[in-house]
Amino acid sequence: MRPVVLKGNLVSLAVPLRDDVRKAWLWFNDRSVRLFLTAPEEVFFFEDEMEWYERIRKAKEREKVFSIVENSTSSLVGFIGLHRIDHRDGRAELGYFLGREHWGRGYGSEAVKLALDYAFNWLNLRKVYARVYEPNVASIKVLEKNGFELVGRLRKHHHVPGYGFVDELIFERFREE
Ligand SMILES: CC(C)(COP(=O)(O)OP(=O)(O)OC[C@H]1O[C@@H](n2cnc3c(N)ncnc32)[C@H](O)[C@@H]1OP(=O)(O)O)[C@@H](O)C(=O)NCCC(=O)NCCS
Repeated sequence: MRPVVLKGNLVSLAVPLRDDVRKAWLWFNDRSVRLFLTAPEEVFFFEDEMEWYERIRKAKEREKVFSIVENSTSSLVGFIGLHRIDHRDGRAELGYFLGREHWGRGYGSEAVKLALDYAFNWLNLRKVYARVYEPNVASIKVLEKNGFELVGRLRKHHHVPGYGFVDELIFERFREE
């Protein structure tokens, strides 16, 4: 059993277990999951993922990463994290991904809602922002459904296989919005 931090209707945010890393490793090497993430070409060894796990475990002040768990089965479906947490300025950057087989069921939208609850009500942050590649329609929808606003654009900023150079969009959401 994973300790659940925040429970939603479909999914919950839970403390990541060492056993969860194996799934992270599989999904990080899946090109459909990887496509709109940093370094889509990258190949990850299992040991890289264990290092990632140790890194987030030791950097709790600046990183809060949760396993996203399906309520009906208690199985792992993805990960979501608040990164670069800055308590002085009251902000953090949001990132998330789900295993390909778990897309399209509303899990991403609810996980972001829970992460915002955690950021605003438990960490007492004032603003959360996210960076998304323009062709990542599903991710943009997830952010818009959670009240994020488009505030910036870096033009032709990343090369994505099959898409060429794409814009990076910056979305943000303040607590009171
Ligand atoms: C982005 C991601 C987390 C979305 O999660 P999800 O659980 O599939 O999203 P949801 O089911 O909550 O869907 C959100 C909305 O997007 C829509 N949507 C989902 N996939 C879509 C697609 N490929 N094209 C257009 N719309 C899509 C859904 O219909 C839904 O809209 P609705 O509520 O109006 O019906 C998931 O696709 C993913 O892990 N992608 C790979 C990693 C990634 O890109 N992470 C984000 C980096 S910024």
